[in-house]
Amino acid sequence: MSSSGSPMTDLPETGSELPEIETPPVGTEEYFGAAFPAAQRYAEHLATTGIEWGLIGPREVDRLWTRHILNCAVVAEYVGESDVVGDVGSGAGLPGIPIALLRPDAKIVLIEPMERRVEWLSMVVDDLGLENVRIVRARVEELVDEEMFTVVTARAVKAMTTLIEWTREVISPGGRILALKGASVEGELVKAKKLIKRYRLSQPKIHVVDGGGILEVPSRVVEIVKK
Ligand SMILES: C[S@@+](CC[C@H](N)C(=O)[O-])C[C@H]1O[C@@H](n2cnc3c(N)ncnc32)[C@H](O)[C@@H]1O
Repeated sequence: MSSSGSPMTDLPETGSELPEIETPPVGTEEYFGAAFPAAQRYAEHLATTGIEWGLIGPREVDRLWTRHILNCAVVAEYVGESDVVGDVGSGAGLPGIPIALLRPDAKIVLIEPMERRVEWLSMVVDDLGLENVRIVRARVEELVDEEMFTVVTARAVKAMTTLIEWTREVISPGGRILALKGASVEGELVKAKKLIKRYRLSQPKIHVVDGGGILEVPSRVVEIVKK
């Protein structure tokens, strides 16, 4: 399914009354550049229909930029313009949509099995006019022999061992996993050691990234390369 690329300005209202969304931290507008209005529109979708449809919890409105949009956007620092990115378990488009906004020449595939979430994603991708985004309704492990990515991204989907098992066959040689992880990452990586060796993957690198000082709490991006 591809977005039809409708221009943002012609589109219907995001939904019910707009709640008070967290003010984006200083530097956010510069970070997104020309994509900032679309990022703001995305924040509005998350804060309205995103909550109504159950894709995001109501308490997240107070930390929509720091904890979600920017926390995910910084992954784009490790994505090149010619990459084909499969965002596994995209949910409300995180991190896939912020990456698509920052890397308009990269191709982003949002992979999500749940029908209602896919419906919401289609609505939002169309509204934002994201022509570099495709949505695939599937479990990622069903995509072997159908899709191939140079990058696989994931946040809050599964532990590293499962992510490796699910995605290794849809990552092209030289491609990589970029997983947003929390404080438990070291333990997850210890458990993944054997698999990393078995499948001849690179030693994981943990990038601690704050978007040039925008994020008070930096994101942790684990990078594992398929040799
Ligand atoms: C906790 S949500 C995280 C959503 C989003 N990545 C975020 O950070 O907000 C996990 C998502 O993974 C999806 N999921 C579960 N199993 C999956 C699979 N095998 N392949 C792809 N997505 C899956 C779920 O439907 C759900 O939307």
